[in-house]
This record gives sequence, C-alpha cells and structure tokens, in this order.
Amino acid sequence: MAGRVVGKMALVSGAATGIGRSIAERLSFEGARVVVADMDEKRGTTVVAGIQDSGGDALFVNLDVTEEGSWQAAISATESEFGRLDILVNNAGIAIVESVDEMSFDDWRAVMAVNIDGVFLGTKHAVAAMRRTGGGSIVNISSILGLTGLEKLSAYCASKGAVRLFTKAVALECGRNGSGIRVNSIHPGYIRTAMVEDTCRRDYGDISTGLAELGKLHPIGRIGEPEEIAAGVLYLASDESKFVTGSELAIDGGYTAA
Ligand code: NAI
Repeated sequence: MAGRVVGKMALVSGAATGIGRSIAERLSFEGARVVVADMDEKRGTTVVAGIQDSGGDALFVNLDVTEEGSWQAAISATESEFGRLDILVNNAGIAIVESVDEMSFDDWRAVMAVNIDGVFLGTKHAVAAMRRTGGGSIVNISSILGLTGLEKLSAYCASKGAVRLFTKAVALECGRNGSGIRVNSIHPGYIRTAMVEDTCRRDYGDISTGLAELGKLHPIGRIGEPEEIAAGVLYLASDESKFVTGSELAIDGGYTAA
C-alpha cells in the first residue's frame, strides 16, 4: 500500500546508508517528499538519485548533526524547497566499542555529540519549524541499548538511554502546549547494516558467523533488516499514530522482552 504519508515533508538524518536510507526510501514510496541529510555526500546523492528514479521527490542536504548551524541550514533548506517540515527522523548515530576504563574523554564526547546532542539540536529546530505550520511527528532512533546495557558500549548505552527519556520529556511538552507535535522513540534490535557488519568482523571474525551468533540473541532467531525499522517509522510518522506520543517502540525480535 502506498500513500500513507502522502503530501508530507520529511527530513531523515544519517540517510545516506543503512537504516536511514531505508527510512528515506519507504517514506518516499508512501508519498512523502524527503530530505536525505548526511555528512556522506556521495552516498547521500546516490540515495536521492534512486528515489528520483522511482518517481519520488528528494533532496540531499549536507548535515553534521553535531553542529547547530548545520541543522539550521538543513531545516531552512527543507522549508524553502518543500514549504514546511512535517516529519523529522533523528537517525544518525555512531558506536565506539571500548571498556570504560580505556575510553578517552574525547571518544565519550564524540558518541554523545552525535547520538544525543544531535537529537537535541534536530528536535529543537524541528519543533520551531513544526510550530509554524501546526504540528508534525518526530521519531528518534534509539536502540535496544537504550533499554538494556551491554559491556564495552557504555557511552553508546548512555546516549541511547538519554534519547529515550529526552523523547518522553519533549513529547509531554509538545502535547501539553497544543503544538500538534508528537515525539516517539524506536528501539531496534541488531539490524543488518555496516554498523553491525563491523561488530561481526570484530567480535566473530567474519560476517556470516557474526550474523548467525547475533541472531541467537533475538528470540525470533535472527537479526533484523533495515526495512523492518522503516516500517515502524512509517507508522509513527503517519497520521495512523495520531494518538501516540512519548511511546517507545521496540522492534527487536523479542530481544528486550525477557
Ligand atoms: P550506519 O553506520 O550504517 O549509518 C549511519 C549514517 O549516519 C551514515 O550514513 C553516516 O554518514 C551518518 N552519520 C554519522 N555521523 C553523522 C553526523 N555527525 N551527522 C550526520 N550524519 C552522520 O548506521 P545504522 O546501523 O544504519 O544505524 C542508524 C541508527 O540506528 C543509529 O542511530 C544507530 O545507533 C541505530 N541503531 C542501529 C542498530 C543496528 O543494529 N544497526 C541497532 C539499534 C540502533
């Protein structure tokens, strides 16, 4: 079924590859005009070209989510090209794997800068833009590691846990001030992207062994695919979820059900 977000204007951060790419493509397939926002211009423009070849309308914007000026420019480009912003997906994220006693303060700050400062800055400027047009939907990509801990990923877990409660606090604010803006978080299990392929190589020696072993951590017996996260984003971005705000949607094959 196409058309679930027809006429809406969306910006997806980190949309040049992985989960973000899949989200941008699905929102476009369902009728949104999409800003593909990423630091990786080469891959980002390829995603835009693919969307345009499929008959969609997309625009690449060079965005570093850690820079406030970069967000301001990205949101103004969205407003000048597409007229307004209805959907923001804060998807860009990074992981640095290190035990806490070996982690440098710079590494800690780098993870926080992208994963939580970036979500704050995007939300701040999107809320201002959405208030000008009467509402919208913000979807923050957290993680199962925003709900449970994992060794050697303390900065990542701390940042993703922060995304979860930041989402709820802003949802309350936006609900009670009558802005018409909804804010929700998604908590993916392991999803097959470059980020997880790196984990497979590092922890299991090769990708296929790693995928099989990581699959066993999920009661469903496999890891997820980017499209399975995009499906959840689509629901939260569309008016089908108009009574949903401040919620946390685990899309994790049962990982956090135990
Ligand atoms: P990925 O590493 O495949 O892609 C991340 C994208 O973000 C890249 O295009 C990269 O250029 C962009 N990016 C990185 N830093 C940026 C910055 N400062 N400004 C703008 N763009 C930037 O990642 P993946 O796997 O697609 O993950 C997407 C999101 O989903 C992340 O927030 C990640 O933490 C989260 N997630 C991923 C899981 C997985 O298993 N792959 C599981 C749970 C959550």
